[in-house]
Amino acid sequence: MSFEKYYTVFKAYSDIYSNEYKKRIKTLEPLLLKHMTPRGKVLDLACGVGGFSFLLEDLGFDVVALDSSESMLEKARKFAKDKMSRVEFVKGNAENLPFEDNSFEYVIFIDSLVHFEPAELNVVFKETARVLKPGGKFILQFTDLRELLPVLMSGQVVGTEYWISRVLPDPEEKTVVIEFQSENDHFRIRFNVWGRTAVELLAKLYFRQLHSEKLNEHSYFQVYTPKK
Ligand SMILES: C[S@@+](CC[C@H](N)C(=O)[O-])C[C@H]1O[C@@H](n2cnc3c(N)ncnc32)[C@H](O)[C@@H]1O
Repeated sequence: MSFEKYYTVFKAYSDIYSNEYKKRIKTLEPLLLKHMTPRGKVLDLACGVGGFSFLLEDLGFDVVALDSSESMLEKARKFAKDKMSRVEFVKGNAENLPFEDNSFEYVIFIDSLVHFEPAELNVVFKETARVLKPGGKFILQFTDLRELLPVLMSGQVVGTEYWISRVLPDPEEKTVVIEFQSENDHFRIRFNVWGRTAVELLAKLYFRQLHSEKLNEHSYFQVYTPKK
């Protein structure tokens, strides 16, 4: 059960030149532009292979990007070399950020909630608020997996090559194991199940919400500012 396999298979997260990745950027770019004024220093938290870091750098932001996965960072650094990017990619844990208090105007946290259990996300939000400057913005995008679960359970094809063959939530639906199947391969991943209400309740401990909108049926774009 490794996320590494999942990210290798799904180009939407591992190949910034793929149509799937470009589609995510195209959806979010206008929203980032609208809510990230003026330009400033950004932390791309759980940056993956860095597509959003490169986008923001191209738009004139000063970007530091952090991820805990060496293989994702390796890909990000390769893309950075191709693009002659100056983004600084840092290996680290979102629960223990290696940055001073009040370091950033913005923290973006895109599509990464499934990795974190409630106690962990609590610490991530606390750390995020700590490293943001007063008046800074926390930009959060996530899929409401609680809403999506029934859709997944009704059996939906997720890609050209792989489809979902089993959806196994735990009895309390706090996590779900999803089995992906192709013609000659299969693998399982355990995701943490986050719904909008739970995310907002947790965020409320450290932030004031400035904006929330539904991006598509099950995905949200939200902007917060730290309570300090
Ligand atoms: C779905 S990817 C999203 C990456 C990127 N934000 C994007 O939208 O392309 C989630 C990322 O979270 C990272 N991650 C998981 N747990 C983490 C942690 N504790 N600290 C930092 N990064 C973490 C994973 O390595 C992975 O690259």
